[in-house]
Amino acid sequence: MKFFLANWKMHKTIGEALEFIDEFIPLVKDVSNKEIALAPTFLCLEKVHEALKGTNIKLCAQNVFYEKQGAYTGEISPLMLKDVGVDYVIVGHSERRKYFQENDEIINKKIKACNENGLKVIICIGETLEERQKNRTFEILKKQIIRGLEGISNFNNITIAYEPVWAIGTGIVANELQIKEAHLFIKEQLKEFAPKNSIRILYGGSVTADNIKKIMNIENVDGVLVGGASLNPVNFAKIIKYED
Ligand code: PGA
Repeated sequence: MKFFLANWKMHKTIGEALEFIDEFIPLVKDVSNKEIALAPTFLCLEKVHEALKGTNIKLCAQNVFYEKQGAYTGEISPLMLKDVGVDYVIVGHSERRKYFQENDEIINKKIKACNENGLKVIICIGETLEERQKNRTFEILKKQIIRGLEGISNFNNITIAYEPVWAIGTGIVANELQIKEAHLFIKEQLKEFAPKNSIRILYGGSVTADNIKKIMNIENVDGVLVGGASLNPVNFAKIIKYED
């Protein structure tokens, strides 16, 4: 099923999140052939979970820590996320890699911890502008996949999001060829790890209601991870309900 995931990042208070949901539920209630999920901040998860009960919308966390419990001030464990009803977790977003020094080794531990706790994972990978300009895109993607997925044997709960860092929040969308090439490359790399699974590959980076159709029509694009354009319920619903 095609997957439409809203990453709200550090936006919305609980009240604002619930207002969004009130408006959003009726807009997408008739969508049955697509998977929809919202990733609010940790603080909103519990209330958003309550508000989404009985709907076709799933709950996603934006981050997780890999230990079960202990002296890790400020962190949240997979079990705690399960406890509030989370289905999915975003791991390795480029903003986490950049501002919080998350590397592939940490990301690998997080994926394993999610797997052990039955949480589905969206693993973000992507090159920076500098890396693309130096023709290092595929090398970077390969490294992120190999290191991120090292030692993982269960791929049933894994989705990859290709998010070129230079396209995130910039209004610059990767062009069709760039997306097509990257998704094909990722698909081929994934075959080495999980020949029997067809792992979904999402695109993320300045997705809007205006460019969604073009993006979804690209080969091997199984959905989108949407930041800015997902903050408004009408806009996000338009993205989900784009006309083929
Ligand atoms: P954007 O963010 O849609 O605002 O570019 C995407 C993301 O970071 O997942």
